[in-house]
Amino acid sequence: MEEQWKLVCLLGILVLGFAQQWKEVESNAQGSVSCGFPAMYNFGDSNSDTGGISATLNEILPPNGETFFGHPAGRASDGRLIVDFIGKCTFYLSLFCLICSFDLHYLHGANFATGGSSVRPPGFSPFNLGIQISQFIQFKARTTTLYNQLSLNRRIPLSISNIPKPAEFSQALYTFDIGQNDLGHGFQSMSEKQVLDSIPHIIGELAKAIHQLYKEGGRFFWIHNTGPLGCLPYNVIYGKKAGNLDKNGCVKSQNEAAMEFNRQLKDKISWLRTQLPFAKFTYVDVYSAKYALISNAKNLGFVDAFNFCCGSFYGYHINCGKRAIVNGTVYGNPCEHPSKHVSWDGIHYSQAANMWVSDRILNGSFSDPPVSIQDACHNLIRM
Ligand SMILES: *[C@@H]1O[C@H](CO)[C@@H](O)[C@H](O)[C@H]1NC(C)=O
Ligand SMILES: *[C@@H]1O[C@H](CO)[C@@H](O)[C@H](O)[C@H]1NC(C)=O
Repeated sequence: MEEQWKLVCLLGILVLGFAQQWKEVESNAQGSVSCGFPAMYNFGDSNSDTGGISATLNEILPPNGETFFGHPAGRASDGRLIVDFIGKCTFYLSLFCLICSFDLHYLHGANFATGGSSVRPPGFSPFNLGIQISQFIQFKARTTTLYNQLSLNRRIPLSISNIPKPAEFSQALYTFDIGQNDLGHGFQSMSEKQVLDSIPHIIGELAKAIHQLYKEGGRFFWIHNTGPLGCLPYNVIYGKKAGNLDKNGCVKSQNEAAMEFNRQLKDKISWLRTQLPFAKFTYVDVYSAKYALISNAKNLGFVDAFNFCCGSFYGYHINCGKRAIVNGTVYGNPCEHPSKHVSWDGIHYSQAANMWVSDRILNGSFSDPPVSIQDACHNLIRM
């Protein structure tokens, strides 16, 4: 019972507070001009969490954020995430907005992603995709009510109210980056076969979430597939067994599951195009972009892709943000040059890697159909 109340309270905080933190996602001249998306709503895990889990369950500690923000900024990285580059976000204070909630700025959307989230429970976080979708639905209902009340009240000009216009929910871009934790949690608790067998249901739940957003008026969907799970240094260190690494040193079985997930996701999106005729879907092959970076890290000016910057899994396990002195050796100090590392903390990517991947995926070279994010509203249906 107590757990339940805790969750209800957290949800209250989430819906009232941090969901609106998505500030300053500029859709200005260089941003989403082509489609002119007035807002973006994001659903996902730590790959795109800009403050959710830090504001609720696990505070993200220094040196996270050191490269770009100069302090922890709710992201598990030294700087910005792919989602920040989507929004052309140059600067925003996520947790700060939770506190100074009078200055909330909803016009540019909201980010419901939280670290550890999976499409389905159980996972590493209670905020699975179903919960994120219901947070969005509440967000939409509450802001719509507020907008309508303010429209009747002439003393508060709507132009300064920062409430999204109800009509903008169907002009917004809905972005997804989720699924990695369904597989990651699966590999920790099930056999490889069971993980593979679970994929259709995970994809089915993801499709259900998209259906719900469509019912709420959502039309434009930009969906990242899942990255090469078996290339995360954490998984290589703890998951390697004789003969199970590929030629680049990644755990084969985990990458095969990720690729199978992606095949089924792509098929499901083709099916969704037939089911939801007014929607536009862009499937984005983040897997291939990340794998290209990892397999070619040294030629691209990075150190070995499995050499991560913050925390330690060798000799003594310590997560990024913590420090320990064992037998006279200090563990947990970050590296000197995070921008030379693909992996920031063994699980999450560095800002430099996120920027490299963003440069390649946002212009459409990894998209199906091959449209850039600015054009994701008028992509052609490919049969
Ligand atoms: C520290 O020293 C002890 C005793 O020699 C040894 O058992 C332990 O493995 C060492 N720990 C690390 C992390 O080096
Ligand atoms: C996208 O940008 C990358 C990196 O700058 C470039 O190599 C690629 O050719 C571009 N693709 C398109 C379709 O513009």
